[in-house]
Amino acid sequence: MEVVIVPDATAGGELIAEAMAALVRRKPDALLGVATGSTPLPIYEALAAKVAAGAVDASRARICQLDEYVGLPAGHPESYRSVVLREVVEPLGLNESSFMGPDGSAEDVQAACVAYDKALAEAGGVDLQLLGIGTDGHIGFNEPCSSLASRTRIKTLTEQTRVDNARFFDGDIEQVPHHVITQGIGTILEARHLVLLATGEGKADAVAATVEGPVASVVPASALQLHPHATVVVDEAAASKLKLADYFRHTYANKPEWQGL
Ligand code: PGA
Repeated sequence: MEVVIVPDATAGGELIAEAMAALVRRKPDALLGVATGSTPLPIYEALAAKVAAGAVDASRARICQLDEYVGLPAGHPESYRSVVLREVVEPLGLNESSFMGPDGSAEDVQAACVAYDKALAEAGGVDLQLLGIGTDGHIGFNEPCSSLASRTRIKTLTEQTRVDNARFFDGDIEQVPHHVITQGIGTILEARHLVLLATGEGKADAVAATVEGPVASVVPASALQLHPHATVVVDEAAASKLKLADYFRHTYANKPEWQGL
């Protein structure tokens, strides 16, 4: 795992946006897997700024979603489809046809999950998958004890995740759906490069367990240890419980060939 400690969320966003821009320069139609939640917003802002400045042409890039709530009415502003359209697809000047995600309002949710895994494979696989991390160590909506080999499927959210996400629903936990579709951990591990961003002290325990703990389904993000190219970008607060923080700083500082990630 590459662990990069940055001063703050803005610096993390800039570093990851540059990695995405570099990928798109190499492969203009790259399939970029995006994450929702508040953590990745600085990445999308930095990437949109690069597009606006002409530093990268992202017009052929393709975007895919990591997860989705089940049961929100189509077009609900907090459905992840709406969030990704608003935060990523529109600011990058892409059109909706370049964007794929699981159908959380499908009549047959199970079939929609299988169809999404198939669609990702048929699209050639994800080139770079962004990830956040839950305070309980989830990636996507793979809650603790998710199978490390899981495929895209329906999951039930933990109470902790519903509490954490209530802020997007006027602080009202009753409005947070109980069920979601999420790419499985096995699905996520198929992306060519995984990039997890974590910021703030609230993520410090989950980050330490992910990076320095054993691979265990009780900490779903620890599955990143199984991936040949996984990068964990953390600010100082999220890094505060890493025993190897100095080693990670030293390693990164001594990789002059590393232009970004
Ligand atoms: P957050 O969510 O970025 O809003 O903290 C992360 C996650 O739950 O994966």
